[in-house]
Amino acid sequence: MNLPESVILPESVNLPESVNLPESMATPRLTLRLWRPTDGDALARAIEESLDHLRPWMSWAADEPLSPQARAELIRTFEENWLSGGGVVYGAFLDNTVVGGCGLHRRAALSTLEIGYWVHVDHLGKGLATEMAGALTGAAFAIDGVARVEIHHDRANVRSGAVPTRLGFTFAGEHPDAVMAPGEEGTDCTWVMLRADWASQR
Ligand SMILES: CC(C)(COP(=O)(O)OP(=O)(O)OC[C@H]1O[C@@H](n2cnc3c(N)ncnc32)[C@H](O)[C@@H]1OP(=O)(O)O)[C@@H](O)C(=O)NCCC(=O)NCCS
Repeated sequence: MNLPESVILPESVNLPESVNLPESMATPRLTLRLWRPTDGDALARAIEESLDHLRPWMSWAADEPLSPQARAELIRTFEENWLSGGGVVYGAFLDNTVVGGCGLHRRAALSTLEIGYWVHVDHLGKGLATEMAGALTGAAFAIDGVARVEIHHDRANVRSGAVPTRLGFTFAGEHPDAVMAPGEEGTDCTWVMLRADWASQR
């Protein structure tokens, strides 16, 4: 595919047939799994309770609160995209309680996956985002052909940048980017983990 690596692909773009993102995984404290239709209310509540801290950074928060129908449709879309080989969006559960969400997303370079995350406001400062991102990095490198995992954040989102730092990602630079959410200044910071570097840290 002849696209710059920095271009993020729509979730609907298929992965090569050999690539299969896991439906769920366990981290030391959490279960990460695909959102299910029955999670709709719990997801809505978690987002509502966390909206003030999500709005500055997550473009999708501008659409909240979604109607129950729209949320059900979104959860269906997440599953369809995953089933058809696109990226994956997980709920993060601590003892069956929603404590955030995260995902692995395709980028233009088929050998690259990008991690995203958010944490419920009551669960900040416990290392859960770092735990999610670490597990997702390991899951990404468990897939043959994945050579590189990236984390991107706006420069103003300092808490987000601390996550790849804690995990030993390498800062790969910054570039002007569209402002997608109200807290952003419009500078994308890119962090990279290469397969060999991840293996040597473990
Ligand atoms: C970005 C975001 C996920 C970071 O959350 P966070 O709680 O700061 O990050 P973690 O969950 O990894 O927790 C790290 C903190 O827990 C502490 N901690 C406690 N126990 C820990 C453990 N077992 N392991 C690691 N850190 C631990 C760390 O010292 C750190 O504390 P500090 O913030 O005082 O330095 C959160 O701010 C958020 O949801 N923001 C809105 C959405 C967003 O911006 N998403 C990213 C878009 S690019």
